[in-house]
Amino acid sequence: MTITEEAEIHARQTYPPADLPHIAEVVAYAQQLAAATGADVEIATIAAYFHDISRASTGPEEHNLKSAQMAREWLRLHAYPDERVERVSAAIVAHMLPITGPPEGRQSLPLESRILYDADKVSRAQGLGIVGALVRLGEQASWEKLGYAQLAATIRGGRDVTQEAYSTLYTDAARELAGPGHRRAIEFCDALLGLQALN
Ligand SMILES: [Fe+2]
Ligand SMILES: [Fe+2]
Repeated sequence: MTITEEAEIHARQTYPPADLPHIAEVVAYAQQLAAATGADVEIATIAAYFHDISRASTGPEEHNLKSAQMAREWLRLHAYPDERVERVSAAIVAHMLPITGPPEGRQSLPLESRILYDADKVSRAQGLGIVGALVRLGEQASWEKLGYAQLAATIRGGRDVTQEAYSTLYTDAARELAGPGHRRAIEFCDALLGLQALN
């Protein structure tokens, strides 16, 4: 069995079932982006499998650092080479906060780290955050009590999250992948926000 296959089994046994669709999409996007950019597919894939692995046990706070630690321990136990363990770990650490600013600084991040960040944001860059924001709004107020102003504010917030996810993508390959869906999501928000009812 390859280390990637073992990582997949470990992921299936460790993540709560509800997390697995997200992990599966990040793995698929990471492999696609790694192939498109010439990055190390194995490192990108293992990093994708482990990137959120601490969340269920210790929460979202600093889950990048904790997940990187769990990945390091598991990989060392499986005699994975030290230099490659560090590359997986560095990618997981970098997946939460993008480096913003001049392109030189952004490009200084290892390619596999940039790819994991991008793979984790492809769906959000295409508007998945808008749906999430609306679901959370529905948890707070019933439809009958909901005002158009709240609805407009939530759509505006979802639009901002979508815009931010897209604008922080590191690679052209990810922008190409998410571009059409991103433009549709922004157009959808703008059309809703242009409705008389929401103004
Ligand atoms: Fe995460
Ligand atoms: Fe994630």
